[in-house]
Amino acid sequence: MELNPNINRTIAVMSGKGGVGKSSVSALLTVEMARRGLKVGIMDADITGPSVPTMFGIVNIRPTINEAGIFPVETEKYKIQVISINLLLERPDQPVIWRGPLLSKAIQDFWNEVLWSDLDFLILDMPPGTGDVPLTVLQSMPLDGAVIVSSPQDLAFMIVKKAIHMVQQLQKPVLGLVENMSFIQCPKCQEIIYPFGQPKGKDISTQLQIPFLGELPIDPVLSEYCDAGKIEEYENPKIKNIVDMLMVGFS
Ligand SMILES: Nc1ncnc2c1ncn2[C@@H]1O[C@H](COP(=O)(O)OP(=O)(O)O)[C@@H](O)[C@H]1O
Ligand SMILES: [Mg+2]
Repeated sequence: MELNPNINRTIAVMSGKGGVGKSSVSALLTVEMARRGLKVGIMDADITGPSVPTMFGIVNIRPTINEAGIFPVETEKYKIQVISINLLLERPDQPVIWRGPLLSKAIQDFWNEVLWSDLDFLILDMPPGTGDVPLTVLQSMPLDGAVIVSSPQDLAFMIVKKAIHMVQQLQKPVLGLVENMSFIQCPKCQEIIYPFGQPKGKDISTQLQIPFLGELPIDPVLSEYCDAGKIEEYENPKIKNIVDMLMVGFS
């Protein structure tokens, strides 16, 4: 795929596994970048499990489509440009039952046919695993790199290493690792609890020679805000650190 003159930088958010927080991290990255005055967009590349519109509270809003292409929907607060298959389906609970090549085609269309306007950053919220869509994105999109998300369980890390190795094999930069659901802080006594054992993200990043971007706690407020479509309201200093670290690679 060709460079898109309307998109300055493109970052894919990946992991080996589902449910580790790719979509939440993707959305939080765009929100924090938008708060810094950057123009950002988010492409929901998880065609069979789209969750971006819900997190941003985009319901019953459809993209404008004309002969020039598809206009992304803008979020209410920060005007983040959003495209998702769910914005194009008749009903949000309608399944998309497509084989790999069709899924890859949808991603190409999201790149070529969507009228992104002047983006500093486009974040791609990827489906789990190392299947057709991640392959298409890594092979054929002008990607600046991938942010990898894991949760602290050994199993999650074992699988996340596959995603990291896939990115490296396809010669794209690994921009860093985010360890999500790393700890929980007691709201009463502030004690920090590690429900999955000691965090391992930092050590694993050193081992694999990739940047460590930071940890995010398990936060019931985050999951509540995601479900309620209020992710633009969510605040956490840890996200700022992660974006600071990520931006080092772009300065
Ligand atoms: N740090 C966190 N604290 C609390 N809940 C979280 C956190 N990260 C993700 N979740 C919740 O876990 C579920 C899966 O997260 P999601 O971002 O959709 O993962 P993925 O995109 O990797 O499948 C969602 O319900 C989300 O709200
Ligand atoms: Mg997801």
